[in-house]
Amino acid sequence: PRMRIDCLSIFPGIIADALKHSIPGRAQANGLLQIHHHDLRTWATDKHSKVDDIPYGGGVGMVFKPEPAMAAIRELRAQGEALVIHPSPAAPRLTQADVIELSGHRHLIFLASRYEGLDQRVIDRCVDREYSIGDYVISGGELACAVMIDAVARMVPGVVAKQASVVEDSFYNGLLDYPHYTRPPVYEDMDVPAVLQSGNHEHIRRWRKREALARTLAHRPDLLEGAELDGEARTMLRE
Ligand code: ADE
Repeated sequence: PRMRIDCLSIFPGIIADALKHSIPGRAQANGLLQIHHHDLRTWATDKHSKVDDIPYGGGVGMVFKPEPAMAAIRELRAQGEALVIHPSPAAPRLTQADVIELSGHRHLIFLASRYEGLDQRVIDRCVDREYSIGDYVISGGELACAVMIDAVARMVPGVVAKQASVVEDSFYNGLLDYPHYTRPPVYEDMDVPAVLQSGNHEHIRRWRKREALARTLAHRPDLLEGAELDGEARTMLRE
């Protein structure tokens, strides 16, 4: 395979189910992507397979104990170079630039925590990266792992057949995507923009670029600050 991914969690089925369809499913079926799902309890040392404990200093919730996670990562890592990723809402947001960088690695290990989190010592010693999928909290790291793995998988060469569709997506060029239309040309009282039916590829290209810029300005002006805009884009924004 181009990439091996190991997922460590207490609900391996959540991640496996989320990734068995569509593009990540096909990438696994054709061998480009090999994903292994592991139950963290396998590495628990006591007879109740306990993986969490109460927090030092008091407070609500439980914290993932260091020993099972550390033992699991060390065992999975022994199979070579690997990058260990821990999804966390208390981390920098994952960007498409991060996703592209991650897609260049050959072995990723995802550790999904639950409850109030993971003992900080595991993060300090064994985790290479922490990312958030957005400014909201979900009930566990499993779905965050699935989101990240889906995003990374589609940037692995060969996984998405038409690489152009990946390249033109929102964020790839730092802008939001332009609007899309298909048949019929008139639906209820709404027309497909005439320029898209004109067959004039230069006009279509400029219309799409203008729309992408307008959407980005409306919904995500923060992205325009970081984007590398060419002269044409700067002119369009001034208009
Ligand atoms: N776990 C819970 N919420 C999360 C988020 N927003 N991103 C990553 N992991 C999470």
